[in-house]
Amino acid sequence: MSTRLRLTAIAIALTMAPLGAFAQTSNTAQVAQALTLTPRQVEGPYYPPQKPADRDNDLTRVGDGAPALGQVLMLSGRLVDERNNPISRARIEIWQTDHSGIYMHPNFSGASKRDRNFQFYGEANTDEAGRFNFRTIMPGTYGGRPRHLHVKIAPMKGSALTTQLYFKGDERLSGDGIVRSLGASLSTVLLDPEPRSATESHASVTFVVRAN
Ligand SMILES: [Fe+2]
Repeated sequence: MSTRLRLTAIAIALTMAPLGAFAQTSNTAQVAQALTLTPRQVEGPYYPPQKPADRDNDLTRVGDGAPALGQVLMLSGRLVDERNNPISRARIEIWQTDHSGIYMHPNFSGASKRDRNFQFYGEANTDEAGRFNFRTIMPGTYGGRPRHLHVKIAPMKGSALTTQLYFKGDERLSGDGIVRSLGASLSTVLLDPEPRSATESHASVTFVVRAN
């Protein structure tokens, strides 16, 4: 090899070295971009032992009854895997208290005083883009816990995931043991509702579950 060719080969090698390093960094970055999984949280004692006959995704009415009391919360969400691929045909369940913090459950003290126009439990199926929607009421508080919605996610494959959703700015968050155990992943289950009118607000959430 002539001196000139040798120098050219060295120059190419020097040029490729940083590219190789970049490619490695880029792969590392792609791994790091995997979305944070939605944290698993306790189901709690008030999952309905008998699901209501009306169990659609509008919890603010039971059948053709009067509207439930309280501030309406529109919740729109998306179910994806760690690579942000949508998960369709999964069932999302929510259950919660009415506006005054009462569950429809035989073991809940004061359940007879519940708002009978509230549905307490609802289901939605994700569409092809992994999207789902609920129309519900801002839950009340009970037993010192922050306001929360319980959620169960049952993808077509894999086991169900139970979790809970909270509300940004709730002063009860810092004193709640279940919330504290979440650490930094609290941010993935924290709703930040935006008012849409005097009686309605909208919040969104993304649930991330392991792909199977
Ligand atoms: Fe609860």
